[in-house]
Amino acid sequence: MNEQTITPLTQLISPLFEANKITVYMKREELNHPHIQGNKWHKLKFNIQEALIQHKTTLLTFGGAYSNHIAATAVAAQEAGLASIGVIRGEELAEQPEKWSHTLKEAAKNGMEFLFISRSEYRNKSTNNALKQLQTCFPNAYIIPEGGSNTLAVKGFQPLMQQIEKQCPDWTHLFSAVGTGATLAGLIKYASVKNNRLNHTRIILGVPVLKQGDYLRPQINEWIAETPVNSWQLLTDYHCGGYAKTPDDLLQKKHQFEQEFGIPLDPIYTAKMVYAFYDQLKQNKIKPGSKVILLHTGGLQGNL
Ligand SMILES: Cc1ncc(COP(=O)(O)O)c(C=O)c1O
Repeated sequence: MNEQTITPLTQLISPLFEANKITVYMKREELNHPHIQGNKWHKLKFNIQEALIQHKTTLLTFGGAYSNHIAATAVAAQEAGLASIGVIRGEELAEQPEKWSHTLKEAAKNGMEFLFISRSEYRNKSTNNALKQLQTCFPNAYIIPEGGSNTLAVKGFQPLMQQIEKQCPDWTHLFSAVGTGATLAGLIKYASVKNNRLNHTRIILGVPVLKQGDYLRPQINEWIAETPVNSWQLLTDYHCGGYAKTPDDLLQKKHQFEQEFGIPLDPIYTAKMVYAFYDQLKQNKIKPGSKVILLHTGGLQGNL
């Protein structure tokens, strides 16, 4: 994979932020790669390095028909000279390529082969037995979990966090969308804690896009274990009805944001993160003097 791009930290100028006496930035990770966009680049980087160290020839991973991770893995594998296999939820798609999403069509164009499995098989995909079977069928494959989330993915956020600390050492709030929690864990783990001595508190706020996001806590805690961490919180009320649910008020806020700042969002992840930020501001949870960073984690391929 290419070297890490230094993406802009764009200040968002708005009368609302002025009135609240806060400074707001968007960290533009959607610009880090045309196809392996946003958090995907960071999650895949060390996994691909590891696959090459293990002399594997193929990346094998899991996802739904609209998965940003599937789209990104196909391109990342191709760039690294590896083959790729996507284990996709929904066996009915095997016989109906005309029903494939844009995501699947693009992944196929980028060389990914698919193994379509039923929803019940998909649910059990991470059991030891299922993984063992897959590894036996594909001995040269390096297996990456759904969403690309594992310890190496978490480690991938260290260089990003260093970049953010350089661009804005005195940030106070960092917002990120949450699916599996690996991205958030990486931000929590690698955000600098020494800045707390500068007499301001900082907090990392994760916005789960799935219902009842509190179930993610144990896994996030495991990923950040034994690190001196900044405070963090899951804002679990902004799933807007659940994964991939996009009610009108969410789409309206997305549209407003895009019009005001000229930065496109995706409806599934980044729009919910932005929605959460505005609501927290409305609830006076973000005090005057705060420096807020909204992390754009990409996902724009999903808009197509
Ligand atoms: C655009 C985008 N943002 C955020 C996330 C959440 O990442 P994580 O699963 O690491 O929590 C994803 C996950 O797939 C994503 O595609």
